[in-house]
Amino acid sequence: MSERIQVPKGTFDVLGDDALARDALAKVAQQILERAGYSRIETPAFEATELFARGVGASTDIVRKEMYSFEDAGGRSLTLRPEGTAPVCRAYMEHGMHKRPQPVKLWYLSSFFRAEAPQAGRFRQFWQVGAEAIGSDDPAVDAELIVLLAELLETLGSQGIRLRIGSLGTPEARAAYREELLAFVADNVDDAALIARAQDNPLRLFDSAPAQMADAPRLLDALGDADRDHFAAVRELLDDVGIAYEVDTTLVRGLDYYTRTVFEFTSDALGAQSGVGGGGRYDGLVAQLGGQPTPGCGWAAGVERMLLSSQQAAVAPPPVDLYVAGERPGAFRLVADARRTGHAARLELAGRSIKGVFKQADRLGARYVAIVGADGQAELKDMETGEQRTVALDTVMHHIRGGQL
Ligand code: HAM
Repeated sequence: MSERIQVPKGTFDVLGDDALARDALAKVAQQILERAGYSRIETPAFEATELFARGVGASTDIVRKEMYSFEDAGGRSLTLRPEGTAPVCRAYMEHGMHKRPQPVKLWYLSSFFRAEAPQAGRFRQFWQVGAEAIGSDDPAVDAELIVLLAELLETLGSQGIRLRIGSLGTPEARAAYREELLAFVADNVDDAALIARAQDNPLRLFDSAPAQMADAPRLLDALGDADRDHFAAVRELLDDVGIAYEVDTTLVRGLDYYTRTVFEFTSDALGAQSGVGGGGRYDGLVAQLGGQPTPGCGWAAGVERMLLSSQQAAVAPPPVDLYVAGERPGAFRLVADARRTGHAARLELAGRSIKGVFKQADRLGARYVAIVGADGQAELKDMETGEQRTVALDTVMHHIRGGQL
């Protein structure tokens, strides 16, 4: 026997109860987001590598180490999408969406790919629900997006949810702050490896060396007036609707496109990979990708992490109305007729004995079983009442619709 081939590391199959739970999550997300005016967008699974190199940022872990990139036959570098915001901004430009009423609100449920070390809650192919609002810098956009993600997590029953928010201000304010922070690091940190890491992104030191950074200057104190007002307005709106949050002056997100608001929802129910969903404002991204300066804001939440963080009751599979066995083509035709009229019908496909047919119908919770005979008749049994009758094959659906035998 030849060796079996298994799924690549960090990927998985979705089936059975997991598939049902994902369907249920998708329905909840669709309902919440479409009620708020978001319409569905689906972008390609791969894009020009340049989109992510420019959009996500060349110094990020995602672009440096985690992209699945390949060359196509024409020598173009393509990349399996590691995230959805840059593709949605590309689509916004490509379809002239700036001509629509702004902001344009889009949502997605798609798979994404990152070559990370797999562990609990961290995969190489994973799914995200995401929402992006492009074309408005109103702080209510940021607050509304946060409220929608909070509502999604609450509806799904996610446990131990906490929200942290911060503001990164403008790239200029951030650049000035960066110099200030690097000066602090040079004076106060003596670990050469840490200093070297700080050159890439000094904000990360708040995570990796919290003790030495305790007295470091904070970005929030370095924001300009307009950014400070924007952040205050977002917080006020969240306070108004009673969303609990913690202001985190050192919140770092793994993508470079953020300006002003950033936020992250974590769950205590998850292990090391506690980030359930996060996002923020990206007012410079569309311009960075070659478009007119256009503000935007959004988030994405990991489907696997949302499911892991919620103790969900198993979703019941859809009920079966009719299970059909016996002579063909009569049995085959009956199933097709039943489905055409909107019923969930199953045909016996495993050559079961009559006893086996009833056992299988029982397992599926089928309401009716029809055993089709060679004589244009069928034995129709109501599995709920136990009643059984011989009826003309052509009248089976009539009997079922009437709810009586
Ligand atoms: P992100 O924080 O990189 O943001 O990812 C969002 C969520 O995707 C995370 O909170 C996590 O739940 C899930 N996730 C990320 N990587 C993995 C992985 N390897 N395995 C399982 N789940 C994962 C973004 O992707 C931004 N595009 C969000 C955004 C939208 N910002 C503005 N708009």
